[in-house]
Amino acid sequence: MDPNTLKQLVGEAAVQEIPDGAVIGVGTGSTVNCFIDALGRSGKKLAGAVSSSEATTARLEAIGVSVLDANTVESLALYIDGADEIDPNFCMIKGGGGALTREKIVAAMSERFVCICDATKRVTVLGRFPLPVEVIPMAREYVARQLRALGGDPKLRAGFTTDNGNQILDVHGLTIDDPLAWERRLNDIPGVVTNGIFAMQAAHVLLLGTPNGVERFVR
Ligand code: A5P
Repeated sequence: MDPNTLKQLVGEAAVQEIPDGAVIGVGTGSTVNCFIDALGRSGKKLAGAVSSSEATTARLEAIGVSVLDANTVESLALYIDGADEIDPNFCMIKGGGGALTREKIVAAMSERFVCICDATKRVTVLGRFPLPVEVIPMAREYVARQLRALGGDPKLRAGFTTDNGNQILDVHGLTIDDPLAWERRLNDIPGVVTNGIFAMQAAHVLLLGTPNGVERFVR
């Protein structure tokens, strides 16, 4: 089965995770787009959603979901999003689509993170996928030097600005064997807005698209 078919299958499976009338958080990316399309086809009614990007907001509104200001919501029943890599403890690298900051905020607001991805995203150790780090533009070169000192090879994502008006450094060559320690260490660099390690916001449920169908794992 090709990855797009697997994404559609996990997108459909994610709709089953949503309690009727819930307010949920919605991530960003091609797998989430499959989820939103499946949600639209399902006819399931939500009380609303908090979105992690302008792109997701537009797609949710197109299927009639009311997108809420995060500041008006106290907590979310669940958060549905993809990942660029996910390890055996359900820690992830995210931000390939550049929405990592809002994704981390909405994930933190949510009681449960349901990760949807195809089997190619499962890894033993995070780091083969270059780690996205969102930076304040005036701090870009300072942060890059700090990342080099930690053994990484940061590359500016050329021609890309986040929804928050910042830039992204994609850091190659890291072996993220202790995701929680790495997440904290990178958070400590002045000028870093968010790094793409989701260890503090690790997933609770993984819906994995495999050639044998969707497999459901719980942490
Ligand atoms: C967006 O910023 C990302 O975190 C995505 O959730 C992640 O890159 C997965 O995207 P795909 O579903 O497109 O692979």
